[in-house]
Amino acid sequence: MKKVNIGLLGFGNVGAGTYETLYMNKSHIEKEAKVDIQVKKILVNSLDKPRLVEAPQELFTTNADDILLDKDIDIVVEVLGGVEPAASYMKKALENGKHVVTANKAAAADQFEDLVSLAEKNKLTIKFEGCVAGGIPILNAITTVLKANQFDEILGILNGTTNYILTKMADEGLSYDNVLKDAQEKGFAEADPTADVDGIDAANKLSLLMALSMGKYVHPSQIPTVGIRNVTLEDIEKAQQDNKTIKLIAEAKIKDGQLDYSVKPMALDNEHPLARVKNEFNAVFVKGNAVDELMFYGRGAGSLPTGSAVAGDVLRTAQIIASHRR
Ligand code: HSE
Repeated sequence: MKKVNIGLLGFGNVGAGTYETLYMNKSHIEKEAKVDIQVKKILVNSLDKPRLVEAPQELFTTNADDILLDKDIDIVVEVLGGVEPAASYMKKALENGKHVVTANKAAAADQFEDLVSLAEKNKLTIKFEGCVAGGIPILNAITTVLKANQFDEILGILNGTTNYILTKMADEGLSYDNVLKDAQEKGFAEADPTADVDGIDAANKLSLLMALSMGKYVHPSQIPTVGIRNVTLEDIEKAQQDNKTIKLIAEAKIKDGQLDYSVKPMALDNEHPLARVKNEFNAVFVKGNAVDELMFYGRGAGSLPTGSAVAGDVLRTAQIIASHRR
C-alpha cells in the first residue's frame, strides 16, 4: 500500500480532531482509499503540555523545520491559527515540495493569492476545506461538482460561536457574556474571541468563499464587517415580536456585474431557512446559474467536525500523490 507522510503544524482543537479522525478511521481509509496515511511529526509549543488526544510522544517537536525540511513528509497540515508564523510556514512547505492542507482561515484569507500562486508555481496543491464552515464540504462542492456554475449569490452563517451566542440569547434569554464563556469552554470560540464576536472570522471565511466560488479575491479587511457585540437582548426580543430572528450573516451578491459583500447582524424572517439554523451549526446558501439554489448545513466548529474536513483534504491530497507514484 502506498504510504503518505503527514506533518501536523499544531495540535490544538482542530489538530487533535484531524489526528483522531485519521486514526479512528484508519482501516476504513486504507480499505476505501488504498493509501496508508501516517502522521510523522507534530509541531507543538511545549512538549510537556497535556494533550486533547493521545499520540506517541516521539511524534512531537517544537521545531517547525523538523517538518518543513523533512524530505519524507509529503503533506503539511497547518492548523496553528493566526496569520504568522502560519503563513510563512505554509510558504516554506510549498517551497520545499510539500502539499499543504490548512484550516487556518486567518492566514489563508490574508495571503490567499500568494499561497495559491506559490502552490501552482511548484506544481503542488493547497486545500482549504477546514477553513470555511467546519465540517460542511462547501469548498469541495463549489470547486468540483458545482464548478460548471457561475455563482451570483452566497448567504451564510459562517461562525459557530456567534450563532451559538445568538441562539442561547434568543431561546434562553441568557446574557451575551455568560454564553460566550460557555462557547469557549465547548471549544467553538477562538482563544481570543474578538475575531468571532466582531465578525472578523466570518469575513475571513467569506473572503475565501468569494475567491473560490466567484473568482474574486477580496482581502478580509476590505469586507464591511459588523459583529454581534452590540446586539442586546432587547434587540432580540424586538425582532422576535416581529417574527424575526437575528443572525450574523455573511453575504456576497453580484448585481448588474457589481459584487457587493458584507458581514453584519440581520433580522431574518422566521420563515427564512437560515433563521432556523441554531447553536454552533453553520449553513451556506449559494445560487448557481445552472443548479439554482442550494443550501449546505452542518457543524461549523468543533474538533471532530473540522477535523473531518481537514482529514478529507488530506485524503484527497494523499490519493493525488499516490496516483503520481505509480
Ligand atoms: N471560532 C470559529 C467558529 C471556529 O466559531 O465558527 C470555526 O471556524
